[in-house]
Amino acid sequence: MHSLTLITTNWSEPLAVASYTTGVSLHSHTSVSQESLSFVKSACSWMPGLNQMLQHYGQRSSQRHGIRLDLNRAYWCPPLLPRMAYDVEARQIQRLWLTPLVSITDHDSMEAPLLLRAVPSSRHIPMSTEWSVPYGATWFHMGIHNLPSRDAVRWMERMKRFTEEADAARANNGDLEAFDRKLIEMIREMHESPQVLIVFNHPVWDLHRVGAATHRKELHRFLQATGRCIHALELNGLRHAQENRDVAQLARETDHLLISGGDRHGLEPNANVNLTTAATFTEFVEEVRVDRRSHVHFMDQYQRRWEQRILESTLNAITDFPNFLPGWQRWDDRAFHPDANGEMRSLRELWPDGDAPRGMRAAIHFVRMGGRNRAVAAPLRLAFPGVNRLGAEGF
Ligand SMILES: [Fe+2]
Repeated sequence: MHSLTLITTNWSEPLAVASYTTGVSLHSHTSVSQESLSFVKSACSWMPGLNQMLQHYGQRSSQRHGIRLDLNRAYWCPPLLPRMAYDVEARQIQRLWLTPLVSITDHDSMEAPLLLRAVPSSRHIPMSTEWSVPYGATWFHMGIHNLPSRDAVRWMERMKRFTEEADAARANNGDLEAFDRKLIEMIREMHESPQVLIVFNHPVWDLHRVGAATHRKELHRFLQATGRCIHALELNGLRHAQENRDVAQLARETDHLLISGGDRHGLEPNANVNLTTAATFTEFVEEVRVDRRSHVHFMDQYQRRWEQRILESTLNAITDFPNFLPGWQRWDDRAFHPDANGEMRSLRELWPDGDAPRGMRAAIHFVRMGGRNRAVAAPLRLAFPGVNRLGAEGF
């Protein structure tokens, strides 16, 4: 059976939702996700003066406190706690007069759905994650949704162990082909369970920067090896239109279905959702896997400048939210770095007297102010000219 993907946008076809009962939010992150801070190095290279400041604090912290700046291990956590993240996604769908089905996909963790199952309004939330997998010379992110409850924790452990071992094999010249084969076997095994939905998240994005041609070659090899075990390719709400058009082309070539995935990290809800008449997540999976039907609906925020949206999402990492729970209000409560013994600690714990050095505070203030100013997104705009020019398909 051929796949049938419908794509609409809320700005040109708001009534597209009228023939559906349910909206599905796929792929979003909560405070449980650990997001690498390695992007700070590249961000500093396009913001004048920040590189010198980074070096200055790196040296000072090494001399005074014996802490070596390690942006590869450092990470930040998205600001929204699982319950808040669920509500942000559910409310956007309810505003369309649809019943929400929300699948939360933190990086390599199912802690959020486990917590949310204890809350009556979200007790049916699927057990889902975004699994980071090394494959050949590159890395992919797989959206693994709706694992059977009884096996979900065990599956999460297996997925994490695979990623750790495959990553270590890369560092030690191990047998990478054996890991590639093992990955395909694991995906086939998940596919055996009819309720599981396997989505290839942002497939063409070379997020580990191995080179576009290498990534593309591995992507085709992977799609060939997995065949129908990958149920859909993702149109990502936080990636630009040019990349999503590329994914749509890939889906046509490989006869894959397209599906939504907002990839929310900050406060703005997912920029696309799936429309369905399914009453449960498992029914939705059946529609995708068996009927091979998917209706992706882009929300109004997708029309906004992509560079500005990326910048705002990143700025959430260094914004204080005074109405959040204590211990999660300040941005330095939510960013982590190894201490002198290599133990991960919040930056607030690492700062002398619990406060960022004055120069650093001034720099953060400058970046926050600048983020509200469209001019600061200009370097990003120059680096990616016109990438979010929306095409005839609506995205
Ligand atoms: Fe991802």
